[in-house]
Parts: sequence; structure tokens; C-alpha cells
Amino acid sequence: MNAALSDARSASRTTKLAVVGAGAVGSTLAYAALARGSARTIALLDVNKAKVEAEVLDLQQGLMFTPQAEVIGSDDVAVCADADVVVVTAGAKQKPGQTRLDLAEATIELTAKILPGLVEVAPDAVYVMVTNPVDVVTYAALRISGLPRERLFGSGTVLDSSRLRVVLAERCGVAVGNVHAYIAGEHGDSEIALWSSATIAGVPLLNWTPFPGAKPLDEESREAVHREVVDSAYRIISGKGATNYAIGLAATRIIEAVLQDEHAVMPVSSLLEDYYGISDVCLSLPSLVDRRGVTQNVPVPLSDQELAGLRASAESVRAVQKRFGL
Ligand code: 2OP
Repeated sequence: MNAALSDARSASRTTKLAVVGAGAVGSTLAYAALARGSARTIALLDVNKAKVEAEVLDLQQGLMFTPQAEVIGSDDVAVCADADVVVVTAGAKQKPGQTRLDLAEATIELTAKILPGLVEVAPDAVYVMVTNPVDVVTYAALRISGLPRERLFGSGTVLDSSRLRVVLAERCGVAVGNVHAYIAGEHGDSEIALWSSATIAGVPLLNWTPFPGAKPLDEESREAVHREVVDSAYRIISGKGATNYAIGLAATRIIEAVLQDEHAVMPVSSLLEDYYGISDVCLSLPSLVDRRGVTQNVPVPLSDQELAGLRASAESVRAVQKRFGL
């Protein structure tokens, strides 16, 4: 848009979302944010100029059908200038047979390369890391950027918690929105389900019966549900090469919680400081998300088994951090 015309039209400050990486996750996220009207300006950044320009053009050509917005893109980091939220999706792609932790080396290197330039052009933004292994990358990104823990966090297990709720809703015969249940810990193989605090309509999930006379989910069924959640990404990656839709929506919801100053409870990955004695590692726990970023880890009650699972998850992520000298 012509600069003078743009100045004349913009009487007030509007929201700007910068999406780093125009691959499957980044471009789907931009599409979801555009369709939902999450930000007034959506900026896409990618090293591949032709790809980013094509994605931007394709998104722009749907503007007649979306809430009012502007989509811009470039291979120059300046396109992210003064963003309110920067979401980082750029990184190595998980191949069938690989775990998220296998991607650590390549992604940490890339993060070290791109993050300083982003912080320079968008010094006041809230940073949301999506790239895997997200907990390790979030920890590394905090070190690299020097940003306060509130202002940089990972998408964590927001996606996994959605997966859990979808499976439970189906098994329990209720709408997805009525299931309150979280996956916590690593966004990966060591993640745990917080069964003891899960509820449907205020009824503890452990007592919920799908219909009169039925039995609540027993331990074996809960284990099967957990397995299904943990294996979801592997199933999707083996079928279509990547996951993009659900993570695009999950990250978009996190961005909205920041831009709308929602104080929403979300299981994002943040740097823990003495959470049940766990410190110095980024893991997901139900946390408050608002315009400042992630402001508080909610002290959810944990069963002994859940606490042991969370500690094991912390150890597993820490072992990878150590391998990379973090
Ligand atoms: C997912 O869980 C691969 O982390 C990505 O969909």
C-alpha cells in the first residue's frame, strides 16, 4: 500500500503478527490467523523469496472473504519490524521415524542465526516458538535472545491437549469444548496427561460415565487414550509428511490470547522456576497467557504418578539441553 495512503487510513495503532517460516506450519498458521481475524497485519518471513512471495499473494487474494487485514511478506527481516507477536516456525522438518528431539541440533543453529535479527527489529514483541523440539528450542532461544521468561515461550502442549480433548470428547460422548484436560511436560514422547484434574461439566473425568450404567474410563483405557495422543504426530507425518492444520490453529489461539490480553489458561512451554521443585527447563503446564506473554504457571494439583511423570519429562528434555551445552 502507498505510504501516504496507509498513514491517512491508520489513525490508530493496529496489531501486527510476524510469522517466521513460510513452510507448511507457518503458512497454515498465517491462513488460520487471517481467516479468524487474529491480527490486522500479518507478515511472513522466509529465506525462500519465491516461496514467501507466492504464499503472500495466495493469502492476499482471499482478503475479500476475511476480516479486514493486510498480508505482507519478504525474505528481509525488516518485514517483521515492530510486530506485537513474532511466531517462529522455521526449522528442520521431522522425517518419518525421527523424534522431535532428533531435530535439536539443526533447529538450535537456525534459531541462533535468526533470533538476534528479529529481536533487533521487533524488540517489544512477545515471541512464540513453535519449531521442534519446542521445549529445547524455547530454552535455547531464551539464552540466545536474553529476553525475559515472560516474553518468550513455546507452543508446547496446547496442540497435544487439543488432541487429548478430541479423543476424550469422542469416548465420553460430549462436545470437545466441554472437556477440560491437559497434556503437560515435554511436547513429545515423555509428555503426560493430567488425569487427576481433568473434568467434564465439573465432574472429575475419573468419575465420568458416558451414559447411565456405563463405567468411567479405567486405567487401561486412559493409557490407550494417552498412547493415541502421543502417536498422533507420527501417524500424520507417516501419512502426509508433516502436521500443519491443528498446530496452525493451536498457535493462532495462543497469539490471540496475547493480542487480546485474554489471561487465558494454556499449556504453553515456559521456563520453570521451582514448579514442584522443577527449575531451569522449559516444559508445558497450564499457564496464564496475556499481553505480557506467559505470566504464571498455574499450580495445578498433581497426583504422585503425574509428578513423577513430570520430573521424568524434565530429565528427558534436560538431557538434550546438556548435549548441546545449554
Ligand atoms: C506435532 O505434534 C510434529 O510437533 C508436531 O504435530
